[in-house]
Amino acid sequence: MRSFTILFVFATIVALALASTSDNVEAISQVVEIHRLRPQTGSAGHRVPQVDCLSWRLAVETNNLRDWKLVPKQCENYVGHYMLGKQYRHDCEAVADAAIEYAKGLKLGGDGKDVCVFDVDETILSNIPFFARCDVAFGALPYNATKFDEWIADGKLPAIPSIRCVYNTVLSLGIKPVLLTGATENFRQSRTTNLKKVGYRNWFKLILRGDKDTGSAVEYKSSKRTELVKAGYRIVGNIGDQWSDLIGENVGAHTFKVPDPMYYVG
Ligand SMILES: *[C@@H]1O[C@H](CO)[C@@H](O)[C@H](O)[C@H]1NC(C)=O
Repeated sequence: MRSFTILFVFATIVALALASTSDNVEAISQVVEIHRLRPQTGSAGHRVPQVDCLSWRLAVETNNLRDWKLVPKQCENYVGHYMLGKQYRHDCEAVADAAIEYAKGLKLGGDGKDVCVFDVDETILSNIPFFARCDVAFGALPYNATKFDEWIADGKLPAIPSIRCVYNTVLSLGIKPVLLTGATENFRQSRTTNLKKVGYRNWFKLILRGDKDTGSAVEYKSSKRTELVKAGYRIVGNIGDQWSDLIGENVGAHTFKVPDPMYYVG
């Protein structure tokens, strides 16, 4: 009881000392009311959005959050640090390790009909240099298709090294890589040059979106995978950064989601 009284007096003194500056209101509330709930409303009674960027990213990666247009402004720095720091690299490596282990454990047909579908952007190639630009802000500023197309046409995308390991493992096992991208046919030359420059070789098919390939990303990618299956190929694996790469028809025996908190393709 006595020690409690001393503690209470001490807490009061601390609270009074902190009260000497107006900036310390928050600190006082923590001393006087431990675990007080943070108010969610501003002075005008409107809800102040408290975006937890890690929770936001988890919601994106799990496909709980869909059709989002922009990275929340408050999360621009978070996403930038994530993409440029070790976490994104490690997350890609974890995907790659799982995919390589899976591929090595496969019982293959040995008839040249086993294929693995790879998405291109943010899967085997990276647009980080583009998204790091101040006029793109890691997806926190509105997407400008003209700018993005100029960047793609330049063909300067680096590889994502861990996913390139998956690609090379797939090749060495005798599984045929099929590159399936939402980029349009007019980028075939720049894409091919870019892919070769950063170490990709011997793909079985590079499928780009043609004039007749209308429809959503899910519809387009589903129809291309269905064509493969109808031609007798077995899609043993399918790897992409967008859920639209991994859902729909004939998704393959095992899908692998590569992280991407910068943009959403529906
Ligand atoms: C998009 O980028 C192009 C090329 O840089 C520019 O000319 C155009 O004004 C931009 N559009 C918008 C809406 O910002």
